[in-house]
Amino acid sequence: MTESSPPTRLWGGRFSGGPAEALSRLSMSVQFDWRLAPYDLLASRAHARVLHSAGLLDDAELQRVMVALQELDHDARHGMFRPDAEDEDVHTALERGLLERVGVLGGKLRAGRSRNDQVATDLRLYLRDHVRQIVGRITELQTAMIDQAERNADVPAPGMTHMQHAQPVLFAHHLLAHVHPLVRDIERLKDWDRRAAVSPLGAGALAGSSLPLDPEAVASELGFASAAANSIDAVSDRDFAAEFLFCAALIGVHLSRLGEEIVLWTTREFRWVELDDAFSTGSSIMPQKKNPDVAELARGKAGRLIGDLVTLLTVLKGLPLAYDRDLQEDKEPVFDAVDTLLLVLPAVAGMVSTMQVDAVRLTNTAADGYALATDVAEHLVRKGVPFRDAHEAVGHLVVWCTVHECELADVSDSDLATVSKHLTPDVRDVLSVEGALASRSAPGGTAPKRVREQLDAVRDQVHAHASWATAH
Ligand code: ARG
Repeated sequence: MTESSPPTRLWGGRFSGGPAEALSRLSMSVQFDWRLAPYDLLASRAHARVLHSAGLLDDAELQRVMVALQELDHDARHGMFRPDAEDEDVHTALERGLLERVGVLGGKLRAGRSRNDQVATDLRLYLRDHVRQIVGRITELQTAMIDQAERNADVPAPGMTHMQHAQPVLFAHHLLAHVHPLVRDIERLKDWDRRAAVSPLGAGALAGSSLPLDPEAVASELGFASAAANSIDAVSDRDFAAEFLFCAALIGVHLSRLGEEIVLWTTREFRWVELDDAFSTGSSIMPQKKNPDVAELARGKAGRLIGDLVTLLTVLKGLPLAYDRDLQEDKEPVFDAVDTLLLVLPAVAGMVSTMQVDAVRLTNTAADGYALATDVAEHLVRKGVPFRDAHEAVGHLVVWCTVHECELADVSDSDLATVSKHLTPDVRDVLSVEGALASRSAPGGTAPKRVREQLDAVRDQVHAHASWATAH
């Protein structure tokens, strides 16, 4: 290292001068990777213990290094130690902090490891920790949805396909249909966690170390299930980040679909729900406006979550093994996805838990648009009419009602007979929303007793997921 080069640069030895200003600015990642500091320090403590077991740090040295790392952790968390303008990345800054505390002894910690295995380890530790926070926030949203379903357990609603009235459903059934995708999202993250639980530390730059280190001991100290099986893969692999970003993007898509529905439900045309004042915004010009911004932002944020995934996949595509500096571009999309989910999920949960459902309006419109027509056709099928003929007969009945501006149940016996010989007065027996709902009693159906079972089952799943998030 020359006199002029900054004392904390980790690679000054063979260079005659300092780096160009433009390179330094391009190379610098500390402004975003500083959030890895607590994880880098955890990994450093595990590494120090392994150096001690290998006889490369004596008892007193280990003791001094551990105390200094502990202090550094405290100081970094409380803003008393910060990266300075010379620190290229989080690893550089923390090595400087260690050197400031224990002098040359701090330089021993770098033995047997490289920023390549360090940064891959830090990012895995960071993500495994934050995935648990994200799962916790998802379960809070699910609980808000389930509580709304419970409060509106008997309320029928128009069920739609193609955004047209199709068949009545329980509103609770519809709400729970937004909970199941989130259940799958959590299952996906738990499955992700098994694959992410591999420690790169010990891979060094790419080839492992000639020093007698113990990667398995480091792995288990850091809560990983095992050490990486291949040191080249250990430093090159970012599948865990890409897979996480896919999970995050899909959560974003699920929140977006929920957001879109809530936007519709709050319109004057639907009037299914009213948002609480605390979760809606006004207009700067139109005094009457109450806007569903939380739902719209949830919908909009899906765009950046999908972008984060595409960013990383594009960085990874075509990268040769082992480490390449392109990999530094892995962090910002990952951090953005984590921040975005932790920002959006509590807002959506708050919006859902405080929204007022208009049960009267839902009930009164559940059968709008001749939504019981299928029930009449299936009634005819039970009496032996081929479905093709039943469908046709009820189709004629719908046209008759449209022309005469009446409901299916309002047609007289003689008019029914005029429309079709299949339409006998007993078709009126199936023209009730309660009857239509109760008859959908196969598993997964919208019959009240099935929805009750579904609600209990999904609540149990959510409880189990919430405890997974806090237990590990
Ligand atoms: N800041 C770098 C990153 O995030 C750390 C690894 C640097 N390694 C290297 N050989 N230059 O990827």
